[in-house]
Amino acid sequence: MNIVVLGAQFGDEGKGKIVDLMTPKFSWVARYQGGHNAGHTVYVSGKKFVLHLIPSGILHDGVMCVIGNGVVVDPKALFKEIDELAGLGIDVGDRLLISDKAHLILPYHRELDVLSEARRGERKIGTTSRGIGPAYEDKIGRRGIRVCDLVDTKALADEVRANVDARNQIIKDSTLDWTQVYDELLASGARMRRWTGDVSLALDQAMRTGQRVLIEGAQGAMLDIDHGTYPFVTSSNATIGGACTGLGIPPKAIQGVLGVAKAYLTRVGEGPFPTELCGEIGERLRETGMEYGASTGRPRRCGWYDAVAVRYAVRVNGIDSIALTKLDVLDDLKTIDICTGYRIGDRTVTEFPSDLNTCGPITPSYESWPGWTTPTKGATSYSQLPAEARRYIARLEEVSGVPVGLISTGSDRHETIIRDDSVVARWLN
Ligand code: IMP
Repeated sequence: MNIVVLGAQFGDEGKGKIVDLMTPKFSWVARYQGGHNAGHTVYVSGKKFVLHLIPSGILHDGVMCVIGNGVVVDPKALFKEIDELAGLGIDVGDRLLISDKAHLILPYHRELDVLSEARRGERKIGTTSRGIGPAYEDKIGRRGIRVCDLVDTKALADEVRANVDARNQIIKDSTLDWTQVYDELLASGARMRRWTGDVSLALDQAMRTGQRVLIEGAQGAMLDIDHGTYPFVTSSNATIGGACTGLGIPPKAIQGVLGVAKAYLTRVGEGPFPTELCGEIGERLRETGMEYGASTGRPRRCGWYDAVAVRYAVRVNGIDSIALTKLDVLDDLKTIDICTGYRIGDRTVTEFPSDLNTCGPITPSYESWPGWTTPTKGATSYSQLPAEARRYIARLEEVSGVPVGLISTGSDRHETIIRDDSVVARWLN
């Protein structure tokens, strides 16, 4: 049984922890989109690991980790991560497979990202400045450079030269020398070679022999290039379709979809956020939830749970069950609000609008639920949760249109509740 774990909000839902705790039941963990804009934080026995490109499955002995063709790979970031893991005693060895079709992030992609943001001025996206967008632009523009292109050929030299020349015309004062980029690419190719191959074929062979694959999304549904709050999105498909195109696997290979959602909501970067809390409660959520970007350190914007958005993510992805994270961050709040609709002008909207960015002022319609005074932090069984917390979860299930199968009550692996009667329990059996 192969399962996809993906973000049902604006990213940073806590996918890293969920993937990490599910991994022992799988032989492979595969990333299908994004790049080192992602930051998956995992705590193991109090030790913090932040992974950007390599799937968090790498922390588990014997698990094969895949970077699919849908991912954009910055060789420098990749090598840094491999070396840092080695410093922490984790040898990547031969447990990493990078698709030879994955596109590369080159030095000028980072510069173009920064330049494009500066040019947008007040309309800026608030990107991670990692060169993600420009690398995907080159891919779609059919001038990208792939992992399998990194051999000393005339074709690669011609492509690099043309790309660098074009970039030098856009980036004023750029002195980038194409031969330097070319030489660096050849060196990266040489180091990367042992880990590269045909991901689609490898996964097909693994699945045919009964090995289970856990498929890991980055970012979240509302940051998806097609289905998110465009243009305030990332440049890849974080939703379920990306898993097939980004790994070269058929839809039939996927037997379950676990959506990860925080018990409240956060967003980093610009863009619409109807339930954002700019006052004291937002500040409290940020501090208690340690809501600072794992990649960039930027403070995350915080707000109430938006059931309109999660219900939409459930529909687009076919989510079977939700992993609800950071419930403990709500401990001690007197009341907790849930957004069940939007007021836009004189309309009440309960389906996520395509034009959220341009539709005008939005007023969320809230339900207020009583908070709880007994802490949920560290709870490992559903019955341990205070009645008010159980009621809150039951209401989230109703308004989001999906059962909550897993609840995270702290950052460590063991601070987790897996509900006995849930599909998640069945997947992990
Ligand atoms: P980019 O992916 O760097 O181009 O950034 C585009 C938007 O996606 C910005 O709002 C980023 O803050 C956001 N973003 C990208 N990666 C992540 C992530 O892993 N978590 C949360 N937001 C992200």
